[in-house]
Amino acid sequence: MSWGLKNRISKIIKPKTGKTVMLAVDHGYFLGPTTGLKNAKETISSLVPYADTLMLSRGILRTCVDSKIETPIVLRVSGGTSILTELSNEGITCAMDDAIRLNAVGVALSIFVGAQYERQTLLNLAKLVDEGEQFGMPVLAVTAVGKDMARDARYLGLACRIAAELGANIVKTYYCKDFSQVVESCPVPIVVAGGTKIAEKEALELTYNAISEGAVGVDMGRNIFQSDYPVAMIKAVRSIVHEGFTVKEALDLFEKCKKEKQKKFD
Ligand code: R5P
Repeated sequence: MSWGLKNRISKIIKPKTGKTVMLAVDHGYFLGPTTGLKNAKETISSLVPYADTLMLSRGILRTCVDSKIETPIVLRVSGGTSILTELSNEGITCAMDDAIRLNAVGVALSIFVGAQYERQTLLNLAKLVDEGEQFGMPVLAVTAVGKDMARDARYLGLACRIAAELGANIVKTYYCKDFSQVVESCPVPIVVAGGTKIAEKEALELTYNAISEGAVGVDMGRNIFQSDYPVAMIKAVRSIVHEGFTVKEALDLFEKCKKEKQKKFD
Protein backbone atom coordinates (compact mmCIF):
# COMPACT_ATOMS: atom_id res chain seq x y z
CA MET A 1 0.00 0.00 0.00
CA SER A 2 1.40 3.40 -0.96
CA TRP A 3 2.15 6.02 1.69
CA GLY A 4 -0.59 8.27 0.32
CA LEU A 5 -3.20 5.51 0.46
CA LYS A 6 -2.24 4.60 4.04
CA ASN A 7 -2.22 8.26 5.06
CA ARG A 8 -5.69 8.85 3.59
CA ILE A 9 -7.08 5.74 5.30
CA SER A 10 -5.71 7.07 8.61
CA LYS A 11 -7.83 10.19 8.08
CA ILE A 12 -10.93 7.97 7.89
CA ILE A 13 -10.16 5.32 10.54
CA LYS A 14 -8.69 7.26 13.44
CA PRO A 15 -5.33 5.73 14.49
CA LYS A 16 -5.90 6.60 18.18
CA THR A 17 -8.88 4.23 18.55
CA GLY A 18 -8.81 2.31 15.26
CA LYS A 19 -12.44 3.40 14.83
CA THR A 20 -14.48 5.96 12.91
CA VAL A 21 -17.72 7.91 13.03
CA MET A 22 -18.46 8.81 9.43
CA LEU A 23 -21.40 11.14 8.93
CA ALA A 24 -23.32 10.09 5.80
CA VAL A 25 -25.13 13.00 4.17
CA ASP A 26 -25.06 11.75 0.58
CA HIS A 27 -28.68 10.57 0.45
CA GLY A 28 -29.82 13.33 -1.91
CA TYR A 29 -27.85 11.81 -4.79
CA PHE A 30 -30.82 9.54 -5.49
CA LEU A 31 -33.46 10.59 -2.91
CA GLY A 32 -33.45 14.34 -3.53
CA PRO A 33 -34.28 16.59 -0.55
CA THR A 34 -34.54 13.93 2.16
CA THR A 35 -35.97 14.78 5.58
CA GLY A 36 -33.20 16.18 7.73
CA LEU A 37 -31.15 17.23 4.71
CA LYS A 38 -33.50 19.73 3.05
CA ASN A 39 -31.15 22.46 4.19
CA ALA A 40 -27.95 20.45 3.84
CA LYS A 41 -25.76 23.41 4.80
CA GLU A 42 -27.45 23.79 8.17
CA THR A 43 -27.44 20.07 8.96
CA ILE A 44 -23.82 19.60 7.98
CA SER A 45 -22.50 22.68 9.79
CA SER A 46 -24.27 21.63 13.02
CA LEU A 47 -23.05 18.03 12.99
CA VAL A 48 -19.63 18.21 11.38
CA PRO A 49 -17.77 19.11 14.61
CA TYR A 50 -18.64 15.61 15.90
CA ALA A 51 -17.85 13.62 12.73
CA ASP A 52 -14.50 12.02 11.90
CA THR A 53 -15.34 12.06 8.21
CA LEU A 54 -18.07 13.56 6.07
CA MET A 55 -19.50 11.41 3.25
CA LEU A 56 -21.30 13.38 0.56
CA SER A 57 -21.58 14.21 -3.14
CA ARG A 58 -19.38 16.82 -4.80
CA GLY A 59 -22.35 19.10 -5.50
CA ILE A 60 -23.25 19.37 -1.82
CA LEU A 61 -19.58 19.64 -0.87
CA ARG A 62 -19.03 22.59 -3.19
CA THR A 63 -22.22 24.44 -2.32
CA CYS A 64 -22.86 23.67 1.34
CA VAL A 65 -19.51 23.08 3.02
CA ASP A 66 -16.96 25.71 4.00
CA SER A 67 -13.68 25.06 2.19
CA LYS A 68 -11.82 25.75 5.45
CA ILE A 69 -13.34 22.61 6.96
CA GLU A 70 -10.86 20.38 8.79
CA THR A 71 -12.99 17.23 8.65
CA PRO A 72 -11.82 14.80 5.95
CA ILE A 73 -14.13 14.20 3.01
CA VAL A 74 -15.19 10.88 1.53
CA LEU A 75 -16.78 11.63 -1.80
CA ARG A 76 -19.78 9.72 -3.15
CA VAL A 77 -18.78 9.02 -6.76
CA SER A 78 -21.50 6.66 -7.93
CA GLY A 79 -25.04 7.50 -9.01
CA GLY A 80 -27.01 8.36 -12.11
CA THR A 81 -30.32 6.95 -10.88
CA SER A 82 -33.20 8.27 -8.79
CA ILE A 83 -35.66 6.70 -6.41
CA LEU A 84 -38.09 6.69 -9.37
CA THR A 85 -36.06 4.25 -11.45
CA GLU A 86 -34.00 1.05 -11.18
CA LEU A 87 -31.49 1.97 -8.47
CA SER A 88 -28.85 -0.56 -9.44
CA ASN A 89 -28.24 1.09 -12.82
CA GLU A 90 -25.43 3.26 -11.42
CA GLY A 91 -22.33 4.63 -13.08
CA ILE A 92 -19.33 6.58 -11.86
CA THR A 93 -20.36 10.22 -11.42
CA CYS A 94 -17.13 11.95 -10.46
CA ALA A 95 -13.69 11.60 -12.02
CA MET A 96 -10.73 10.67 -9.84
CA ASP A 97 -8.89 13.88 -10.70
CA ASP A 98 -11.81 15.94 -9.41
CA ALA A 99 -11.90 13.88 -6.22
CA ILE A 100 -8.23 14.77 -5.77
CA ARG A 101 -8.91 18.44 -6.60
CA LEU A 102 -11.61 18.40 -3.92
CA ASN A 103 -9.02 17.02 -1.49
CA ALA A 104 -11.03 13.88 -0.76
CA VAL A 105 -9.46 11.22 1.45
CA GLY A 106 -11.64 8.51 -0.03
CA VAL A 107 -14.22 7.77 -2.70
CA ALA A 108 -17.44 5.80 -2.16
CA LEU A 109 -19.36 3.75 -4.68
CA SER A 110 -22.37 1.43 -4.34
CA ILE A 111 -22.46 -2.16 -5.51
CA PHE A 112 -25.77 -3.95 -5.99
CA VAL A 113 -25.07 -7.67 -5.59
CA GLY A 114 -27.97 -9.77 -6.87
CA ALA A 115 -29.69 -6.84 -8.57
CA GLN A 116 -30.39 -6.23 -12.25
CA TYR A 117 -27.19 -4.25 -12.86
CA GLU A 118 -24.95 -6.24 -10.51
CA ARG A 119 -22.19 -6.76 -13.11
CA GLN A 120 -22.09 -3.10 -14.10
CA THR A 121 -21.74 -1.94 -10.49
CA LEU A 122 -19.05 -4.52 -9.73
CA LEU A 123 -17.07 -3.45 -12.79
CA ASN A 124 -17.53 0.18 -11.68
CA LEU A 125 -15.91 -0.83 -8.40
CA ALA A 126 -13.01 -2.59 -10.11
CA LYS A 127 -12.39 0.47 -12.32
CA LEU A 128 -12.49 2.81 -9.34
CA VAL A 129 -10.04 0.60 -7.44
CA ASP A 130 -7.64 0.70 -10.41
CA GLU A 131 -7.80 4.51 -10.40
CA GLY A 132 -7.59 4.63 -6.61
CA GLU A 133 -4.40 2.54 -6.68
CA GLN A 134 -2.94 4.88 -9.27
CA PHE A 135 -3.55 7.98 -7.17
CA GLY A 136 -3.38 6.61 -3.61
CA MET A 137 -7.12 7.10 -3.06
CA PRO A 138 -8.97 4.63 -0.80
CA VAL A 139 -12.20 3.16 -2.16
CA LEU A 140 -15.17 2.54 0.10
CA ALA A 141 -17.64 0.05 -1.38
CA VAL A 142 -21.23 0.48 -0.21
CA THR A 143 -23.23 -2.75 -0.30
CA ALA A 144 -26.62 -1.45 -1.40
CA VAL A 145 -29.42 -3.93 -0.75
CA GLY A 146 -32.06 -4.31 -3.43
CA LYS A 147 -35.77 -4.60 -2.63
CA ASP A 148 -35.80 -8.39 -3.04
CA MET A 149 -32.67 -9.13 -1.01
CA ALA A 150 -32.61 -10.37 2.57
CA ARG A 151 -30.42 -8.34 4.90
CA ASP A 152 -28.94 -11.46 6.46
CA ALA A 153 -25.39 -12.63 7.12
CA ARG A 154 -25.40 -14.87 4.07
CA TYR A 155 -26.30 -12.09 1.64
CA LEU A 156 -24.27 -9.33 3.31
CA GLY A 157 -21.32 -11.70 3.72
CA LEU A 158 -21.46 -12.40 -0.02
CA ALA A 159 -21.65 -8.71 -0.94
CA CYS A 160 -18.88 -7.63 1.47
CA ARG A 161 -16.55 -10.41 0.39
CA ILE A 162 -17.04 -9.61 -3.30
CA ALA A 163 -16.31 -5.93 -2.57
CA ALA A 164 -13.09 -6.89 -0.78
CA GLU A 165 -12.08 -9.36 -3.51
CA LEU A 166 -12.44 -6.60 -6.11
CA GLY A 167 -10.08 -4.44 -4.07
CA ALA A 168 -12.22 -2.13 -1.92
CA ASN A 169 -10.20 -0.74 0.98
CA ILE A 170 -13.20 -0.33 3.30
CA VAL A 171 -16.70 -1.82 3.01
CA LYS A 172 -19.89 -0.26 4.23
CA THR A 173 -22.77 -2.60 4.97
CA TYR A 174 -25.72 -3.16 7.29
CA TYR A 175 -25.77 -4.75 10.71
CA CYS A 176 -27.55 -8.11 10.81
CA LYS A 177 -27.97 -11.22 12.95
CA ASP A 178 -24.66 -13.16 13.05
CA PHE A 179 -22.86 -10.01 11.90
CA SER A 180 -19.53 -11.35 13.22
CA GLN A 181 -19.64 -13.93 10.40
CA VAL A 182 -19.80 -11.09 7.87
CA VAL A 183 -16.79 -9.43 9.53
CA GLU A 184 -14.79 -12.66 9.75
CA SER A 185 -15.16 -13.43 6.05
CA CYS A 186 -14.29 -9.90 4.89
CA PRO A 187 -10.55 -9.14 4.91
CA VAL A 188 -10.95 -5.34 4.95
CA PRO A 189 -12.48 -3.06 7.61
CA ILE A 190 -16.27 -2.79 7.74
CA VAL A 191 -18.37 0.23 8.73
CA VAL A 192 -22.12 -0.04 9.23
CA ALA A 193 -24.90 2.18 7.94
CA GLY A 194 -27.77 3.02 10.25
CA GLY A 195 -30.54 2.42 7.72
CA THR A 196 -34.01 3.92 8.01
CA LYS A 197 -34.80 5.93 11.13
CA ILE A 198 -35.47 3.86 14.24
CA ALA A 199 -35.75 4.83 17.90
CA GLU A 200 -32.53 6.28 19.34
CA LYS A 201 -32.17 3.40 21.82
CA GLU A 202 -32.35 0.87 18.97
CA ALA A 203 -29.86 2.81 16.86
CA LEU A 204 -27.44 2.91 19.78
CA GLU A 205 -27.92 -0.83 20.32
CA LEU A 206 -27.18 -1.37 16.63
CA THR A 207 -24.02 0.72 16.98
CA TYR A 208 -22.91 -1.13 20.10
CA ASN A 209 -23.57 -4.57 18.63
CA ALA A 210 -21.82 -3.74 15.36
CA ILE A 211 -18.70 -2.47 17.16
CA SER A 212 -18.72 -5.43 19.58
CA GLU A 213 -18.89 -7.82 16.64
CA GLY A 214 -15.98 -6.28 14.77
CA ALA A 215 -17.08 -3.21 12.78
CA VAL A 216 -14.51 -0.40 12.81
CA GLY A 217 -17.24 2.18 13.00
CA VAL A 218 -20.37 3.62 11.52
CA ASP A 219 -21.16 5.54 8.37
CA MET A 220 -24.47 6.77 9.70
CA GLY A 221 -26.96 9.26 8.33
CA ARG A 222 -30.71 9.19 9.00
CA ASN A 223 -30.48 7.91 12.56
CA ILE A 224 -28.46 11.01 13.33
CA PHE A 225 -29.81 13.83 11.18
CA GLN A 226 -33.47 12.72 11.41
CA SER A 227 -33.35 12.47 15.22
CA ASP A 228 -35.24 15.15 17.14
CA TYR A 229 -31.90 15.69 18.90
CA PRO A 230 -29.27 15.21 16.19
CA VAL A 231 -26.28 16.64 18.09
CA ALA A 232 -27.10 14.56 21.17
CA MET A 233 -27.41 11.50 18.95
CA ILE A 234 -24.07 11.88 17.19
CA LYS A 235 -22.37 12.47 20.55
CA ALA A 236 -23.96 9.28 21.91
CA VAL A 237 -22.88 7.30 18.83
CA ARG A 238 -19.32 8.64 19.24
CA SER A 239 -19.25 7.58 22.87
CA ILE A 240 -19.84 3.96 21.86
CA VAL A 241 -17.50 3.95 18.89
CA HIS A 242 -14.54 5.78 20.40
CA GLU A 243 -14.96 5.58 24.17
CA GLY A 244 -16.34 2.09 24.65
CA PHE A 245 -19.59 3.27 26.25
CA THR A 246 -22.31 0.70 26.87
CA VAL A 247 -25.77 1.31 25.42
CA LYS A 248 -26.98 2.49 28.84
CA GLU A 249 -24.07 4.92 29.23
CA ALA A 250 -24.62 6.24 25.70
CA LEU A 251 -28.36 6.65 26.36
CA ASP A 252 -27.62 8.54 29.57
CA LEU A 253 -25.32 10.82 27.58
CA PHE A 254 -28.03 11.25 24.94
CA GLU A 255 -30.58 12.25 27.61
CA LYS A 256 -28.09 14.68 29.15
CA CYS A 257 -27.21 16.24 25.78
CA LYS A 258 -30.92 16.54 24.86
CA LYS A 259 -31.14 19.33 27.42
CA GLU A 260 -28.69 21.45 25.43
CA LYS A 261 -30.41 23.82 23.01
CA GLN A 262 -30.47 22.18 19.58
CA LYS A 263 -32.46 22.19 16.42
CA LYS A 264 -34.36 19.41 14.71
CA PHE A 265 -33.63 19.47 10.97
CA ASP A 266 -36.31 19.64 8.26
C1 R5P B 1 -27.17 5.33 0.80
O1 R5P B 1 -27.00 4.78 -0.25
C2 R5P B 1 -26.19 6.22 1.29
O2 R5P B 1 -24.93 5.80 0.87
C3 R5P B 1 -26.13 6.44 2.80
O3 R5P B 1 -24.93 7.07 3.04
C4 R5P B 1 -26.20 5.21 3.62
O4 R5P B 1 -27.40 4.55 3.43
C5 R5P B 1 -25.96 5.49 5.12
O5 R5P B 1 -26.88 6.26 5.65
P1 R5P B 1 -27.99 5.71 6.63
O6 R5P B 1 -27.31 5.57 7.98
O7 R5P B 1 -29.01 6.78 6.61
O8 R5P B 1 -28.48 4.39 6.14
